[in-house]
Amino acid sequence: MSESSTRRATTSRPSVTLAATGVGHGQRPAVSIVVPTFNEADNIEILLNRLRDELDEQHYRGGYEILVVDDNSPDGTWQLVENVSQRDRRVTAIRRTADRGLASAVLTGLSVASGSILVVMDADLQHDPVVVPRLVDAAGQEGTDLAVASRTSDGGSFGRFTRTRRMISFGGNSVAQLLLGTQCSDPMSGFFAVSRNYYETVAPDINPRGFKILLEFLARGKRPVVREVGYRFGERHGGATKLSGSVVLNYLAALTTLSLGRILPATFVMYLAVGFVGLGLRAAVEQLGVLLISPVSTLPVLVAVEAGLVLNYFLHNRITFEPFRHRGVHTVRGLISFHVVSLHGLLVHAGVMALLSQPGPGPNANLLATTFSVPFVLAGALATIGSYHINAATTWQR
Ligand code: GDD
Ligand code: MN
Repeated sequence: MSESSTRRATTSRPSVTLAATGVGHGQRPAVSIVVPTFNEADNIEILLNRLRDELDEQHYRGGYEILVVDDNSPDGTWQLVENVSQRDRRVTAIRRTADRGLASAVLTGLSVASGSILVVMDADLQHDPVVVPRLVDAAGQEGTDLAVASRTSDGGSFGRFTRTRRMISFGGNSVAQLLLGTQCSDPMSGFFAVSRNYYETVAPDINPRGFKILLEFLARGKRPVVREVGYRFGERHGGATKLSGSVVLNYLAALTTLSLGRILPATFVMYLAVGFVGLGLRAAVEQLGVLLISPVSTLPVLVAVEAGLVLNYFLHNRITFEPFRHRGVHTVRGLISFHVVSLHGLLVHAGVMALLSQPGPGPNANLLATTFSVPFVLAGALATIGSYHINAATTWQR
């Protein structure tokens, strides 16, 4: 029957496989729908059926394609999609085994998609397929870059969102508008369409570790022309949400880094911010030690350094490198690796200091003067940039 064989994707990522796909053959579809999934076995078939019913009615010239990007879900979501794709070539299963994370999954899907309008939506039916044609129409309007399905514009609603979640969402939107100057009323939406033109303009600048992919589209490059389509945020059909815990922290972090992102790489800014928090804790613990154990000894200093390192590791793990987060036993290995890199950083710092400094200030020198001396700051900058790159390449990379 149809080729059920799974072939390698032609993207740069060897860990991605495309199953029985129509992508790359024949005509360019007018519309591509990218659906990131992780453990959505309860929902994905229902979504695909509703989506195809909806899109079939539209008779898009050039047709459509649906790309489901699954991160090798233990519940076999990708297998279900592969089964559908064997009967319907407009459906493609992309199974990723090395990369993971919502934002990077969306980017993988977009990079493979060939439509002139690219839609992104969730698989759990909180995003109603009925809205898709309206998004496509809005994004297809002359001069439009992005169409966002919004819960806060006309006809939109948060559905059964609790008051707390609404407030968080409201706060989030206000901060986004303030920091990024975006014209979008629902910048946290995971349901949107982007024109191929705009996608190709901003794609090179988009951070795959970014927190919200829509935020990236809104904040990178020139200010996009955005249209909004109101919709009601539905209930999750089956399964459980994956986005939990430090969403608010991550969101604020993303906004900060995006607003500074035009100057420095986003993750690096976050890395710095976390580093300063660690230094703060270290200074506090050191002071406490000095107060409690009057005769100055090395023990409080060591405890303080260690406290700062541990705090930094966990903050980096939850915020800076969140998409590559270690869980369970991997945390131990991560913590060790982070210590090794930090030790290396300390050595670089000491080495560069030694090279740059005149015969150092005596033991009684003013602490502030030592801390903010030019060699200290220069050496610190070098060590930090180095340890950032090494951590990104080793500690938080598989
Ligand atoms: N491939 C992949 N990898 N997919 C993922 C991952 C991942 O690591 N994490 C989540 N997903 C998929 C889910 O399977 C689902 O289809 C979609 O991404 C959204 O995940 P949910 O777990 O349902 O997120 P949510 O409902 O809490 O958040 C949604 O609503 C927010 C607004 O309140 C998302 O659409 C957010 O983007 C949106 O901001
Ligand atoms: Mn959801």
